[in-house]
Amino acid sequence: MRSGMIPIHLDTDATRTLQDQLYDKLRGAILTGSLQPGTSLPSSRLLASELKVSRNTVTLAFERLINEGYLKTKIGSGTYVSDPVPESCVAIQAHDKAGQTGGRHANRPSMVRHPSIRMKMDSLRMIQDGPNRTRIDFWYGNANARNFPAREWRQLLVENVSRIAKNISGYGAPEGAPELREAIARHVSANRAIPTHPDQVIITAGAQEGLNLISRLFVEPSARIVVEDPCYKGAALVFKSYGGTLLPIPVDGNGMCTHLLAGCGASLAYVTPSHQFPTGATMNAARRIELLRWAETTGAYIIEDDYDSDFRYDGPPLPALAGLEQNTSVLYLGTFSKSIGAGIRTGFLVVPRQLIEPMREAKSLANYGHPWIEQILLADFIGQGRFTRHLRRIRHAYGLARATLVNGLADTFGPMQVVGAEAGMHIMWTLPEHFPSVDQTVAIGESVGVGLYTLAAIGAHEIAPSRYPRALFLGYGSLAPESISKGLARLARGLRSAGFEPKPARTNGIPRRQGAVREAERDREHI
Ligand SMILES: Cc1ncc(COP(=O)(O)O)c(C=O)c1O
Repeated sequence: MRSGMIPIHLDTDATRTLQDQLYDKLRGAILTGSLQPGTSLPSSRLLASELKVSRNTVTLAFERLINEGYLKTKIGSGTYVSDPVPESCVAIQAHDKAGQTGGRHANRPSMVRHPSIRMKMDSLRMIQDGPNRTRIDFWYGNANARNFPAREWRQLLVENVSRIAKNISGYGAPEGAPELREAIARHVSANRAIPTHPDQVIITAGAQEGLNLISRLFVEPSARIVVEDPCYKGAALVFKSYGGTLLPIPVDGNGMCTHLLAGCGASLAYVTPSHQFPTGATMNAARRIELLRWAETTGAYIIEDDYDSDFRYDGPPLPALAGLEQNTSVLYLGTFSKSIGAGIRTGFLVVPRQLIEPMREAKSLANYGHPWIEQILLADFIGQGRFTRHLRRIRHAYGLARATLVNGLADTFGPMQVVGAEAGMHIMWTLPEHFPSVDQTVAIGESVGVGLYTLAAIGAHEIAPSRYPRALFLGYGSLAPESISKGLARLARGLRSAGFEPKPARTNGIPRRQGAVREAERDREHI
């Protein structure tokens, strides 16, 4: 079978399905540039008739490419190759260019292709102008805009307006405004049990700048860095961009398998112990101790990325690594991206005392400091107790969303395997056996206006062959409970019309999170 418009040959005798073959061919043509960004594709009906395959085959291949960002649809005018092309394509082009120019930076990936940002932008674009304006998107990364404390923010802005001129007419302290560093030190000491002096706090442009500052100090071409496998791509690519070599250590239900650290020769380890990214596992206490001992005996530093630990639903969190040690080997990475919103671009580092000066210097070299006004509003927000109240409020909202999602999955699809529901704003859901593959499920979701994400699409970096081939990652932070229920119902409908029975749950014996909704409702009474 062959298409006249695009040279596509499909092999009916091959073991790969026609849909998979078509997906491969189109993706390959985009990657090699045979299909240029902006090129219009034939309609699914036309292409199906040219290739002599069912229209469903073409539609599902298109949906998958749309979901991964290779294709876009414009209402009323068809399907196009995305412009710009997604991260993976840019990666290949950037790598080719680096190879041609050679030199010291030849093998460093271009920072232009920050994966999570691209993906966030792609998913945002899909939300804004996607095929369905009421698309229900289970993207994990966004805070709910409705939770932003706009009224309080405006009030703080008014209160501080008379101080702006004086404070922005010159440079501030590169390590951050003293008011904010003090407020964060108090917050972290009280909430994460990390005894913190304000001098140890460095204000950064999100966790991402923290990772860059750490890399500036510790990562050089000979550096070996332990990462969880899978891990956050935003971190892995920064380490690689400084020439570091990644040493992947697998994770299981108790976090990183720390017994594999012995003799690895790494000088740095990057971990997400509170809510492993992306699997959602919590590192247990024994492994925390083992990791700290390893760092102590080898002289390595640990980066503790505590990106979503503000949200813990079932009991108190395990103490942060940085609080277990006398903080001599842990660099603690905090962010306001989840609690307030990623657009605030404010995060912080808490560093061991011996690293205060080197880190201040690194921050000065990078950008001389963070914008004053953002810092001062945040300092007042935290210092006046508003942040604590805000957290209590949104923890309740996210708790309710989480209960709706977890219970809804069990009710709609039967017995289920979910990891990471105790904390954060996303869960890992291993698809039940009666479901199609993850890619097909994503495509079916897309066809009914539901955004679902695989491990690769969520911005995870995986080094060993995937141990999560049937996992989807569902974020619930930016969705109202009603939207979550509607999204699950749509997915069930989509599955049914694609010929898969969603298998509704029995009322008894389902591993439902008993009482989760009730708990969330009870909490509400305390707000
Ligand atoms: C594992 C992890 N770390 C950190 C962040 C936050 O990064 P930033 O503070 O730069 O927005 C994210 C964001 O989604 C994340 O998933």
